[in-house]
Amino acid sequence: MIRACIFDLDGVIVDTAKYHYKAWKRLANELGFEFTEEDNERLKGVSRMTSLEILLEIGNKKGEYTEDEKLKLATKKNEWYREYITKMEKDEILPGVEGFLELLRQNGVKIAIGSASKNAKTILERIGLIDKFDAIVDGTKITKAKPDPQVFTKAADEMNEKYEDCVVFEDSQAGIDAALAAGMKAIAVGKPENLKNAHKIISGFKNKDFELLMFD
Ligand code: G6P
Ligand code: MG
Repeated sequence: MIRACIFDLDGVIVDTAKYHYKAWKRLANELGFEFTEEDNERLKGVSRMTSLEILLEIGNKKGEYTEDEKLKLATKKNEWYREYITKMEKDEILPGVEGFLELLRQNGVKIAIGSASKNAKTILERIGLIDKFDAIVDGTKITKAKPDPQVFTKAADEMNEKYEDCVVFEDSQAGIDAALAAGMKAIAVGKPENLKNAHKIISGFKNKDFELLMFD
């Protein structure tokens, strides 16, 4: 029986992919190459430094920077990204999310955040959801990135729940793979062509009822 739900943040609770995209694109342009929305798909669920590596590969600039320079580039991107997210408002919570969280509460299901982002708490504060979760595991608490299951197993441990009693909501393939590796149920949020092997797939949380947590 499902006793806890673990939510990825970016792309599940809020659409921050557009802000990541704006900031990465700005960096790519400054380095002298283009970066498309399709390229941005490859960065979903991926850590900041790995995202930079992918970006440099796209621009054919792999191997051109020292580790120290790469750190500076990632920091610059993050400063631009923070300019966007520190202006976020409550109305940027994706449709149906708040109602669904409330439904889970009413039914005694625990809720957690399992995100790779080091900016997760800033975002949750801005959109007024910081106090809603039983556990928040973000990029500051983990040592292994998705598809490693660490972010989700840590969230389950913090809630004192068994992995098999948890369901993960994810918009990235790395995140779905991480949930499955943890022995949890995975519900993909997004388009079937981008997301494979999840137990269920939804386009969003609008009008979702408790039935969603029933598995055969
Ligand atoms: C999430 C996003 C990724 C992002 C990562 C790290 O997983 O989907 O696009 O790179 O978090 O985010 P951060 O805010 O720490 O740079
Ligand atoms: Mg995500």
